[in-house]
Amino acid sequence: MLPEQGMPDLVLPSPLMTCNHPLLTEKKIKLFVKRDDLIHPEISGNKYRKLKYNLEKIKLSNAETVITFGGAFSNHLHATAATCHYLGIQSVGIVRGEDTSSDNPTLQFCKQKGMVLHFIGRNEYRLKTDSDQVKNIIKQYPHPFILPEGGSNPEALVGVSEIWDELTQQLAQPADYIFCAAGTGATLAGLLKHAPEKTHVLGFSSLKSEHLKDEILRLTGEKTEKPFTFFNNYHFGGYAKTTTELLDFITALEAVSGIPMDYVYNGKAVFGMFDLIQKNFFPENSVIVWLHTGGLQGKKGMPYLKK
Ligand SMILES: Cc1ncc(COP(=O)(O)O)c(C=O)c1O
Repeated sequence: MLPEQGMPDLVLPSPLMTCNHPLLTEKKIKLFVKRDDLIHPEISGNKYRKLKYNLEKIKLSNAETVITFGGAFSNHLHATAATCHYLGIQSVGIVRGEDTSSDNPTLQFCKQKGMVLHFIGRNEYRLKTDSDQVKNIIKQYPHPFILPEGGSNPEALVGVSEIWDELTQQLAQPADYIFCAAGTGATLAGLLKHAPEKTHVLGFSSLKSEHLKDEILRLTGEKTEKPFTFFNNYHFGGYAKTTTELLDFITALEAVSGIPMDYVYNGKAVFGMFDLIQKNFFPENSVIVWLHTGGLQGKKGMPYLKK
């Protein structure tokens, strides 16, 4: 693959580990964790998967600058800044909200990796490339490649689909269930589009949204008959919001399993899973895979999380 030149060493295939917990033993559930968080400390989780084929496109298009979008603690901005740094491409981040970069670890990291940051108001941000302000920013850079928020586009789905090839090698038989967290929905769409018939795909929304399930189905680009269940009731009040119950759950599970997780995405999805396991949603002897989508850098933003 073209862009590997310049890229740091990546842990691929990402390891598949067993998650141990007394509830899993009691309910006779086998839970594996696909540790995409271990792919690379700076380009981890679904960000690597979503960037991989975009990088090919960027190289082939001879773009001089990659322009993308994200919030103040965005895992996507973090991963894009690091990737462009390693590949020697200029990166530009259009950031939602006011300039908090002086005491924001994610944005400081982006700057260290050479990303130029532009801060825009929330209303303009919502319009993305339809905003006049965004258009004026883009005009400043010759030959830009515009990468959507979250890196979520058709190329992202292809990168995510490679998880299935790895799992086929790593698991003795297809999993009964696979689950992960959803933000834009592209990761789930990539999983769903290429899922083996036997595997039921479960999604957990990290934010309040009535439309995310439809968006995931739209992104798959086809009518899918594959088993897919989407849970909207484990977002804990909305994007990046937390409760003491969620934080306590994460701390306890990390201590028992040794698997770190973020509060914005994985923590909520895994909370939902454990709740469903407790409520006997899954038959005994089910084999479940948790796709760990990374995002651990975001933990540095913990003091800023909304309760
Ligand atoms: C760590 C992490 N997990 C999950 C997601 C959700 O992925 P997607 O936007 O593809 O739904 C994101 C980003 O949005 C993320 O940063």
